[in-house]
Amino acid sequence: MSDILGDWKRSHYCGDLRAELIGQEVCLMGWVHRRRDHGGLIFIDLRDRTGIAQLALDPDRDLESHTKAESVRNEFVVAAIGKVSPRPDGTVNPKMKTGEVEIEISELRILSVAKTPPFMLDEFTDVAENLRLKYRYLDLRREGIQRNLMMRHKVAQTVRNYLTDNNFLEIETPVLTKSTPEGARDYLVPSRVNLGEFYALPQSPQLFKQLLMVSGFDRYFQIVRCFRDEDLRADRQPEFTQIDCELSFVDRDDIMTIMEGMIARIFKEALDVSLDLPMPRMEFAEVMDRYGVDNPDLRFEMELKNLTDLVKGSGFKVFADVASKGGLVKALNAKGCATFSRKELDGLTDFVGIYGAKGLAWVKIQEDGNWQSPIAKFFTAEELEAITKAMDAVPGDLLLFVADTVTVANEALGRLRGHIGQKLGLADPKEYRFVWVTDFPLLEWDGEERRHVAVHHPFTAPLDEDLPLLETDPGKARAKAYDLVLNGSEIGGGSIRIHDQAVQSKMFGLLGIEEEEAQQKFGFLLDALEFGAPPHGGIAFGLDRVMMVLTGAESIRDVIAFPKTQKATCLMSEAPGAVAEKQLRELGIRLAARNKQA
Ligand code: AMO
Ligand code: AMP
Repeated sequence: MSDILGDWKRSHYCGDLRAELIGQEVCLMGWVHRRRDHGGLIFIDLRDRTGIAQLALDPDRDLESHTKAESVRNEFVVAAIGKVSPRPDGTVNPKMKTGEVEIEISELRILSVAKTPPFMLDEFTDVAENLRLKYRYLDLRREGIQRNLMMRHKVAQTVRNYLTDNNFLEIETPVLTKSTPEGARDYLVPSRVNLGEFYALPQSPQLFKQLLMVSGFDRYFQIVRCFRDEDLRADRQPEFTQIDCELSFVDRDDIMTIMEGMIARIFKEALDVSLDLPMPRMEFAEVMDRYGVDNPDLRFEMELKNLTDLVKGSGFKVFADVASKGGLVKALNAKGCATFSRKELDGLTDFVGIYGAKGLAWVKIQEDGNWQSPIAKFFTAEELEAITKAMDAVPGDLLLFVADTVTVANEALGRLRGHIGQKLGLADPKEYRFVWVTDFPLLEWDGEERRHVAVHHPFTAPLDEDLPLLETDPGKARAKAYDLVLNGSEIGGGSIRIHDQAVQSKMFGLLGIEEEEAQQKFGFLLDALEFGAPPHGGIAFGLDRVMMVLTGAESIRDVIAFPKTQKATCLMSEAPGAVAEKQLRELGIRLAARNKQA
């Protein structure tokens, strides 16, 4: 039987009890974290979201409460009134915020009983994630994840305050909308009143925020849920949250400066870390050349070196062929890694295979400076020396080479750089290295669809000096786009938009989007651009990814209250699920037989 609250009011949070309160009567409410019987005395560690307080129940003080305390189990919900007292000598716990005091309980009420939880709710027990997700409401009682979500709240507050201080308005945009052009698959919602028609959930508020600029709102932001049906990874969720911004009458520098200020404020508030501003910027071409990927972790060096010219005429056919066919031969120097075993090298070869590399050539620099390598025999003494020099290699180093198309060589080695950096622990978890990556290509060639597609999205403006390239060599045109990369994670991205209808039409032409299709998809935006559109641009940050870095979480799920699995399911609510035949009928939907059975 549960007691009821009656006229009891909580006076303090458990975690707030301090020696200053000694002598005061307090009323606490929370969950039983642990109960310890010490002969006559019973101790209860009482937990709420702020921490843990120790309740002491003495049968001589109140026998009825003591008897109740004998029956409480972990996770019972209780309320207790008592006096804050110093802990007896030798029992002070300096590791706890509340470790100097305990509460001498005069009355205990059991508000709610609990079954034995399916897993221990402390920080130390390693629980299978599936179980954690099935009982997410229990998992959310654990200290680490509570801390993450409290910090998330603080960050959201900081964002609202900062942007409000900078004249941004928070405006909501629709969730039932039309397809947006962010490049992932849409989640569709069937319409009952318009049979056969579908809404798309927004992949981002991109079109609406541009329209708000046309309407004159000047500076917009929204902390907004976005939906993308894409293959999930450790840092992706099918629904995730953006800090979405759009500004009028600004250029790229203005946007980057304002947003750096926001990120700096977040780091100050959440971690008390002061960031150096301005943040470094690097053009995409340089980033790719030096790191092979557009989201490099700059906490360690290990830059890639382009050896294509050096090995063009060499006797190693694999390298020479790739070089003569316009491919890339690149290498990195894993300092001090000549001790890697055959098995470790095979592991690295498998790793680059994931990114399509056909092999991974390696060289160990021996004590005498000579090469130990299966490919040493293909090179002249001069070539060996030139490569060693280009790679800054000294005895003990391990050189790793990939020869392939530009795309594969860059990605394979770039990812390998990150992999080795992690394996060797080169990145300091307490260091925060930002870089703005700018001047992305405007377009990329889609071999499957045999047409150009927008690298960012079709509304991104080309660099002014590259405008003529749209006529002559569109693949070379660069965009007024920028990503903010933090410790190897792309935490945000945006661009200056096209605000001129003629350029926008030209862009659709290049993308192979017919006028009719453009009208059908984004006609309302194109129309709006003809009614006086200010120059504008914006950016969106992935709040979940920012939180991952701030909390040091390894999985994006650890910063989201109710996340989805890699298969986009919710193990707790069991979404997605089947629906009643009647609902389908109302929507005019008939399932294909195969799905019906499943
Ligand atoms: P973009 O597509 O780059 O830009 O998205 C912005 C940021 O959102 C985060 N993000 C994700 N986070 C978690 N799970 C996902 N599936 C996911 N997808 C993206 C990333 C990314 O940098 N409308 C443009 C912004 C603009 O141009 O203003 C946009 O959505 O951190
Ligand atoms: P092979 O002569 O094919 O036995 O290759 C000799 C070495 O070169 C092996 O270590 C291969 O992994 C490596 N290798 C083969 N193809 C490539 C490539 N495209 N890029 C880098 N290394 C390669």
